[in-house]
This record gives sequence, structure tokens and C-alpha cells, in this order.
Amino acid sequence: MKKRKMNIGLNDKGILRRTLLTISVFFLSLNTFASEPLYKDSSMPVESRIEDLMGRMTLEEKIFQLNQYTLGWNNNENNLGEEVKEIPAEIGSLIYFEEDPELRNLMQKKAMEESRLGIPILFGYDVIHGFRTIYPISLAQACSWNPALVKEACAVAAQESRMSGVDWTFSPMIDVARDPRWGRVSEGYGEDPYLNSVFGVASVEGYQGNNLSDTLSIAACLKHFVGYGASEAGRDYVYTEISPQTLWDTYLPPYEAGINAGAATVMSAFNDISGVPASANPYTLNDILKQKWNFDGFVVSDWAAINQLKEQGYTADNKEGTMRAINAGLDMDMMNHAYDRNLQALLEEGLVTQDVIDEAVRRILRVKFRLGLFENPYTSEVKDRFLRKSSLETASNLAAESMVLLKNDSTKVLPLKNFKKIAVIGPMAKTQKELLGSWNAHGNPEDVISFWEGINKEFGSTHEIRYAEGCDFDSDISNGLSDAMKLADWADIVIMCLGEKNNWSGENASRADIHLPAIQESLAQTISASGKPMVLILTNGRPLALDRIEPFFNAIVEAWQPGVAGGESLAGILSGRINPSGKLAMTFPLTTGQIPIYYNRRKSGRHHQGFYKDISSEPLYPFGHGLSYTDFEYSDIKISSSEIKKSDKVTATVSVKNIGEIPGYETVMWFVSDPFSTITRPVKELKHFEKVNINPGETREFSFEIDPLKDLGFVDNEGNKFVEPGDYYITVNDKRIKLTLTE
Ligand code: BGC
Repeated sequence: MKKRKMNIGLNDKGILRRTLLTISVFFLSLNTFASEPLYKDSSMPVESRIEDLMGRMTLEEKIFQLNQYTLGWNNNENNLGEEVKEIPAEIGSLIYFEEDPELRNLMQKKAMEESRLGIPILFGYDVIHGFRTIYPISLAQACSWNPALVKEACAVAAQESRMSGVDWTFSPMIDVARDPRWGRVSEGYGEDPYLNSVFGVASVEGYQGNNLSDTLSIAACLKHFVGYGASEAGRDYVYTEISPQTLWDTYLPPYEAGINAGAATVMSAFNDISGVPASANPYTLNDILKQKWNFDGFVVSDWAAINQLKEQGYTADNKEGTMRAINAGLDMDMMNHAYDRNLQALLEEGLVTQDVIDEAVRRILRVKFRLGLFENPYTSEVKDRFLRKSSLETASNLAAESMVLLKNDSTKVLPLKNFKKIAVIGPMAKTQKELLGSWNAHGNPEDVISFWEGINKEFGSTHEIRYAEGCDFDSDISNGLSDAMKLADWADIVIMCLGEKNNWSGENASRADIHLPAIQESLAQTISASGKPMVLILTNGRPLALDRIEPFFNAIVEAWQPGVAGGESLAGILSGRINPSGKLAMTFPLTTGQIPIYYNRRKSGRHHQGFYKDISSEPLYPFGHGLSYTDFEYSDIKISSSEIKKSDKVTATVSVKNIGEIPGYETVMWFVSDPFSTITRPVKELKHFEKVNINPGETREFSFEIDPLKDLGFVDNEGNKFVEPGDYYITVNDKRIKLTLTE
């Protein structure tokens, strides 16, 4: 059947803008005779307050609003900048590195009392997976398939931040990432656009709460706009080659979802998108984000990215970089001294207009008003704000749901039974620091329950537990290999803790080969000679290549970098107190040479050919993989109608029965595939999922309401959404059903 494209119109932003302007002028006229300036009156609409304030500002005051400097001790070795000697009272924003609000309040006092108009400063910080109560890294969070829990964790992070003087986080990162060599895969939600959308929205909702002006909410920042996850060969900061079709299909959808969820700000990316850097890209910033999607918050550059336009070969100097960036729609300059030093001259030379500057200032003021900073500029310190009981419970639940049981062979060594003597071996067993992951804000290693501590608490009164390090993390010093071998001979079972240090992933932490360090692989091989049952516990920030060591283990648990409660949650999984329910949000290749390998690739004309000659072409563990201690049985899929029109909706249902002996969570994932279309589609695409606890013997029904445009449609290379009549397949687990869409 031939299909035809159907276009969907855009909404009229012109009408909205005109209406807002009329309302603002009306309120401005009401305030003409009041003694207090209108912008200070919280009962007035935000847009009127902005216009009033704009009318009072000098050019210099406006330009300062567009800059962000730093305050406090910067411990980020990737972000070195010019030392900030004197912060003007008129500065727009500061990255705040302190844990307590004292310094912030001092600086804010200067802004409120020494600047002419008393405009509050906006304090931002990288609160990526917790402020002090550190949660699992974002990639692990996605493996929980539990957005409600992620929202809860982000709300705790927001509260700790706001009570400590931070109003704005540079999170969530929603860069779809398909190359595990790239260290920043740890900061996002994996390889799938839909999963990044769902978790991006959950974190925006968690950070921002119901209302940004609540004193416990912070502003979110969607980053890095856009395409950063496509960094060539997994190397950080480099060029990306992204076709317009792939930009719309893969990289933009999570951002559109985040904007629709009300994200207050966006950060532009470091990468050069097919020749035009993201920090000065008028198509992505102005045309898509601001015009097409009506985003009315502001865009901040990434650290020093405006001056880096020169290194990218896009501009002759920082002045031209400033001109290109602001004209493209980049509103705030993070630590470049580009806007403060160049904007006035550019305006005088006619290369930047007053309108462009005003529009950027308006957007920044809008976020400050929405956050209630004019009314509540200071932070009152709350003494017991960190590591509260309920925050730790969330950390423990999220760590438990994020961990993925990758393997549990027919010997079923997990959950641990009938073993009395446990040998815990490996360089990651006692570490607290490495379990925090990268970007751990004010996380303190002493807060972390190590695997060793967790195992001792869980099994200490019933089992005999001993430890040997076995080897160093990555050097060739084998710290006590012979002790480890003796321990394995003594034990009934070996729990081996291997992995990556936390600075092996995150920013500027690419790896060319994603195997474990050779010394750790060799430890696994040596200890396996003991013939004892072996369980591997992995802590790492990216999918790893496990082909060389996987055969040595009866069971493998991917614990990720699980944060403060990691050891407790892991021990619960080992004992069976917790039934594992995590499933992979990113494919584990068999080996590095398969990269990129991800489930939603486009189809090949010869799917029976084109395999590697030297290795299997299948990943070791695919997207969605994750075992449980119970088993589930899926019914066939039922559908309310197998033929529908594009304006109809249809519901597909499937029943899932827990046929095992213990309760367990099952995540039911609904995929759609379109056998042929005018722009080819991936093999299959995730469209909906639900995670539910099912008791033994119980059957639960899961459903997916299919909206043809949203779930069967796709975009063209200009972002127009279409749905084409024809056949589609809906798949769940190993079941599938056909759905026909007519005109
Ligand atoms: C990173 C951003 C981060 C910013 C501020 C940059 O180097 O790419 O993700 O938010 O620094 O710390």
C-alpha cells in the first residue's frame, strides 16, 4: 500500500506575543503614580515587571545581566578560566561552588544593595545526581525504568541545593548517546530518544516542582543543545556529523519534551554540528528552540564555549564569536568574558542590535522573576538539610532499582543461599569515593556505604566474610594476588568487585577501549582457576566490554556508580531481600569494535548478511536486558481494533503473570515498527513502558493507548510531523501484533 504524507500545522506564537505586550502596557500604565517601582511589585504580572525594569536599565547594566562568572573554590579541573578578581554588583549569574549559603548571601547583598536597581544574582551549579545526598549516576537512573523515583530524587536534590544557596542546576543532560567510549554517557539516560524524553521530563518536574517560585524548587537546564552525544569516535568536545533527518529523529525529541515540561533554561553544546557550532547555531537556537517551540527562558553557553568558537575554526576572534553567538540566540555567556568585553563595541558598530541584546536580557530576567528571586534573594541556611532519612531512603530505592542483574546462569548462585564462607575480592570492594560517580557535587565519600560494608551488614551475623584486594585498580602491581587465591580456596563463593574509577567517565573521560583494565581481567581469570562459584559486581560509568571475563562468572550484577546507598542496595540484591528489576538503557557491546551498536538502528537491505567475519555481530547484553529472581509469562497482545483511521485511538493490552515464587517488578516495554515508509524507520522504537510489582501467581494487565500521530508518526528533515497509512507492528517482549492505519 502506498502511503501519503499528512502535515500538521504549528501554533500561532505571534498572537501570544501581541497579547502579552498589550497586557504589559496596561499594567505599566496602572503603575505610573506608584512610589515603588513596578518591577518590585510581586502582585504585577511577570511580563509587566520585565518591561518596567528594562525601561530603567542602562546598556552597561543590561550587558552585565548576560554574563556568568564564578564564586567560591572551583574544583573542576576541566573548567579552568580567567581568575575572577572582582565581581560587579550588576552581574547576571554566578556558578556557586560553596556548600553553604553564607558567601552567596554576602554577594547577593552586594547586588541588592550596591547596584542601582537591586537586581538579584542567579546562582547556578552542576547538581547532576544529587547535591550532598548522591544518587546513582543518570545512566543508572534510566535503568530503573522508574521516572517517579527519579523525579523524587531530583526533588530532594533541589531542596538540598536551594537550602544551600543554589537556585539553578545545569541538569538534566538529555543527550542521546550511542557510543560508550564517550565518557559522558554516564550523565544521560542512554541510547533511546524516548527514554531520554521521559527521564528528562521527570527530572525537570522534580527540580522545578509545581512552581518555580516555591522556596524549595530550582530551575532546570536542558543540556547540551544539541547533538553532543554524537561526538565522533566517542571523543569529548569534538565534531559531530548529524544529518537534518537524524537531528530531528534522534537528538531533538528529548529537548522538545523538556521544553514542553516547562524547563526554565537550556545550555548550548560544545560540538560543531556538521560545520556550524552548537553555541552559535541560529537554526537550532533561534529557529527551532525559540521560534518553533516558543521557548521563553534563556540559553546559557557551555563553559567558555563562545571563545572556543575560534578554536573550532568558526570565528576569527572572541569579538566575532560574541557577535555570532548572540545573534544566533545564545543569551548568557558562561565564563568567557566575551559578552562583557565585546557587546558594547559590536552594538556601536551595528553588528549586534539593541533588540537582540534586550531580548536576551528579558529572558534572563524572566527566569529570575519566575524563581521569586526579587522577593526572596537570600537563602536561610537550614542545618539538617543533608542526608535526611527520607532522602537516604530514596537513594537506597533508586540504587536498588538501577542495578541490573546481567547474568545468573543455570547454577543460580544468586540470591546467595547455602554458602557460608564468602570471599570478597577486588579493588572496588572497599571504595567509597568511586561509588559517587563523576559530577558528584558536594558528595562526601564518608557518606557512602561501600560494597564491603553493605555485605557485612547484610550477611555478617550469619556468614563468615573475608576480604582480599587482589590487585590494584589499573597499575601492574598485583596487591596480594596470592592472598586472594588463598581466600578463594577457603571460600564457598567469591564476590568479585571490579570496575572503573569515577574519573574514567564523565566529562573529558573518553576511552578507546571499554574493557576493564588488564590487571582486573587477569585477576578474574586467575581466581576462576579456584573452581569456586563466582559473582561479579561491576561499578562503572558506561557499558563495558565483558567478552573476555564474562565466562568466568556464574552471575553478574551491574551496580553502576550507585551513590551513597550503593553497598546497602547491592547487598540486598545479593541476599534476595531485593529482587533486581533494573534493565539496560544502553546496549553492552560484545567488544569495542562493535561500537556504535544500539537497538533502534535503521534497517539493512541484507539483514542476512553484513556480519563481522571475526566476532559475533550481536551485543553481549541488548537494550532492555535485565534479569529477575522470578519469571514472568506474557499473553498474546490484544488490540481494541486492528484497523483504524489516523484520527482514531486504539488500545493494545497484554497480560503478564508472575510464574515464580517471589514478588517482582516487571517493566513492560512497548515498541512500534513500521515495515516501510517514505523515510525509513528504525528496526523498532520504544514508545511506552510501565513498571509494576506483580505477586507470585498474580496476573496484571498492561496497556498502551496508541495515538497514531504521536506513536506511529515520524518527522521529516524540517521537523514536520507525519503519519502514513499502512501496516505497523506493535511488539512487547516476544509478542507482536499488526495494526493497519487507513486514510
Ligand atoms: C560542562 C557542562 C557543565 C559546565 C559547568 C562544562 O564543561 O560541559 O556540562 O554544566 O561545564 O560546570
